[in-house]
Amino acid sequence: MNIFDFTLKKHKGEKISMVTCYDYTSARILAETSIDCLLVGDSVAMTMHGFKDTLSATLEMMRFHTAAVSRGASEKFIVSDLPFLSYRKSLSKNVSAAQVLMQSGAQAVKLENATGNLPFIRHLTESGIPVMGHLGLTMQLMHMLGGLKVQGRSESQAERMKQDALLLQEAGCFALVLECIPTQLAKEITQSLHIPTIGIGAGFHTDGQVLVYQDLLGLNTDFKPKFVKVFVEGQVKIRNGIEKYVQAVKAGDFPNDEHCYGN
Ligand code: KIV
Repeated sequence: MNIFDFTLKKHKGEKISMVTCYDYTSARILAETSIDCLLVGDSVAMTMHGFKDTLSATLEMMRFHTAAVSRGASEKFIVSDLPFLSYRKSLSKNVSAAQVLMQSGAQAVKLENATGNLPFIRHLTESGIPVMGHLGLTMQLMHMLGGLKVQGRSESQAERMKQDALLLQEAGCFALVLECIPTQLAKEITQSLHIPTIGIGAGFHTDGQVLVYQDLLGLNTDFKPKFVKVFVEGQVKIRNGIEKYVQAVKAGDFPNDEHCYGN
């Protein structure tokens, strides 16, 4: 994939598949699949570090995980999230943050919301850094949104989001994540853009879908929003595997001759 394939897929009506990835081992697994795009999301702060939201993600964290994913899936298109406030400083500091992610192995960066970000997005794209936009339930703004809830339900919010989507496209974004918004609004935004939309909790009219790796693999049973579909009961399978190992150790069945070195 490259940024032009994203648009091409939209125009051919081929859905884009994206999943988050934060570590080398998972990247190796994903590298062997047909997934179109990996997102080193700032959700890493929650899934890999146990924080309660994404506000704790740091640039250093993103650099570290982006580099690990890139080592495991060098052939995949990797998007890395600019973390909380890392792109709300001076232009020079913002550019340096994007530079860190690109030099860690990302092919593009993602940032949340349009207001106040458009000149920076223009600057990045003119400097050779593809940008993925993100609208809707953008967790970095959770305290201004009054919590984590579906966005764009009122007419004024929906209108604003439609305009923001167009502004992000005009500023140079090559794709747009739409998170937790009504299906009809996502449809209208998708139809109004020539760049693709990638939805999470935004219904089936978007040009692609993204899910968090741990959610779709059933590894995160504490969190089950309506939009998540568990495709593998991963936690159950892993727990069963560990129990089998424990029982084999206790019974003296592991290791046996095939796992032992001779003289
Ligand atoms: O960080 C993340 O996982 C994301 C997805 C929800 C799109 O931004």
